[in-house]
Amino acid sequence: MRVLVVGGGGREHALAWKIASSPRVDAVLAAPGSDAIAAFATCFPEIKATDADALIQLARSENIGLVVIGPEDPLAAGLADRLRDADIPAFGPSAFAAQLESSKSFAKRFMARHGIPTAAFREFSDLDEARSYVREIGGACVVKADGLAAGKGVAVCSTPDEAERALVEIMADRRFGDAGSAVVVEELLVGEEVSYYAITDGEHIATLAPAQDHKRALDGDRGENTGGMGAYSPVALVTEAVERSIVSEIVEPTVRGMAAEGHPFSGVLYVGLMVDADGAPRVVEFNVRFGDPETQPLMVRMEDDLFPILYGAARGKLDPADFPTRWGQAAVCVVLASGGYPRDYEKGVPIEGLAEVEGDPDVVVFHAGTKRGADGGFATAGGRVLGVTARGRDVAEAAARAYAAADRIRFRGMQLRRDIAAAGLASRCPTQ
Ligand code: AMP
Ligand code: GLY
Repeated sequence: MRVLVVGGGGREHALAWKIASSPRVDAVLAAPGSDAIAAFATCFPEIKATDADALIQLARSENIGLVVIGPEDPLAAGLADRLRDADIPAFGPSAFAAQLESSKSFAKRFMARHGIPTAAFREFSDLDEARSYVREIGGACVVKADGLAAGKGVAVCSTPDEAERALVEIMADRRFGDAGSAVVVEELLVGEEVSYYAITDGEHIATLAPAQDHKRALDGDRGENTGGMGAYSPVALVTEAVERSIVSEIVEPTVRGMAAEGHPFSGVLYVGLMVDADGAPRVVEFNVRFGDPETQPLMVRMEDDLFPILYGAARGKLDPADFPTRWGQAAVCVVLASGGYPRDYEKGVPIEGLAEVEGDPDVVVFHAGTKRGADGGFATAGGRVLGVTARGRDVAEAAARAYAAADRIRFRGMQLRRDIAAAGLASRCPTQ
């Protein structure tokens, strides 16, 4: 089987790396891919992840048996539908089902219809109505632009003034463009944020594992929001009992609900959750693709073959015999980012020390934003540059290994958080 991975970031590096290890996969291709992925896969840097025509042509000419779509934009634009219409098996939901991520109001209404626990919410397309509502509820709320805003169209507010400022920015100033023509105002949830992953063909569900991301730029969850500065799995607060609640109250009703409404969801359901002090999970957001950088530790932890579940989900025939059951104890990914990220940063800075960590069987360095220079070495090419990922007998060992490896890698301006997985090491388990 020849598999095409769509995308070229750290998540796609991790997916392509895992898929390439399958005994059932003969070749991995990636579009656009990256110089790092090109070490073991044929890449097509000129083909964009959103260019459906070029991807269909490539899949046909390269005799591709499965296309795995990494990022959300092509899914929201209907790439999976286009591939399936062309009889090419594709892993990822239809554009309709992808609205679980691409439209907050779609997701909220869906959860309300199916009794899925989430924050109470109201939708507004009129600025004045939204303003009087946030005053009425006293200001403690979350204001969200309705469309895709790369995770940035969300303001967590504690006073009416803050909430009004967010509303004006989104709806009047159109800071996030058309994504701000409508807003959702939500109840503020308190607790600990975790992500949970499950793969489905629309009916059968292969649960994966929980992970926790670190979205803020600086230690102690300070600084600006980023795409994610590191992640780890498993997450101690997701005990077996909490996991059962997540699956039975959220994952199963979502999969059944989409099918019952005539739009079965196939692909990976990534649920962003707030787990409260009693261990009760509520949905903060749905995503319809793998998380970045959570996929990096998940792929390093997963011992079973990933390919059969991706292929099974893509063809609507997920076989319970293929469900992953063997997981390494723990994995931690530390992101090395360019100085200045998530704002302006320099590109083309040579990276040193990569060879020093190669060959360590417990460490894998996934490349999020790098390019190979004329001298054959890698240089920075993005905000998030590398995801140094290590496995261990527990989260503490995995974190120690990831940091030991990260400390051998150097580039001008390099920034990293020193507290990835620290929350998971402190005992913060909800009482059962
Ligand atoms: P979203 O794009 O919906 O995931 O929101 C981005 C971030 O805002 C989340 O990861 C949370 O940290 C925070 N957030 C979103 N909704 C809520 C909520 N209802 N209560 C508390 N925090 C939230
Ligand atoms: N790690 C956050 C995301 O992938 O959306």
